[in-house]
Amino acid sequence: MSQDRLVELIKKQIRIEKNFVKTVDEQIKSLHTVAAKLLMLETQKDSEKHAMVLDGILTVIKQKGTKPLWNTLLDSYVDKIVAKRNLEKHIKTEAAMLENIKEAMKETKDEGIKLLLEHIGNDEKKHHEIMHEVLKQAYKIKP
Ligand SMILES: [Fe+2]
Ligand SMILES: [Fe+2]
Repeated sequence: MSQDRLVELIKKQIRIEKNFVKTVDEQIKSLHTVAAKLLMLETQKDSEKHAMVLDGILTVIKQKGTKPLWNTLLDSYVDKIVAKRNLEKHIKTEAAMLENIKEAMKETKDEGIKLLLEHIGNDEKKHHEIMHEVLKQAYKIKP
């Protein structure tokens, strides 16, 4: 795949994501249950996030030249040791978030609340994995 095509597809994705964010704003107003509103909100925030990450990818593609993405992650701006210590702290925070959510899920029989908590729990699992991946890839050490 060519770089031009990649950039084109990323730009297209950003447009779709941003459009979706706008549409959901309107839709949320017309929804009549709190659970539906919250689920749409969750999706909308994910779209905002996707658009931001894709924007970032575009910026990196423009700047990085031939450097692989991982090499540009922590190289220039951040003191590596401090960043590593902070990442290790984040991993603990994410683990605490996950444990807390799991416990909260046991405390409710409400299906809607359970579903929303479950989504957050799945996010926390993903965040935890991402932090490990960042540590592994940016420092080339095992999690
Ligand atoms: Fe998306
Ligand atoms: Fe998290």
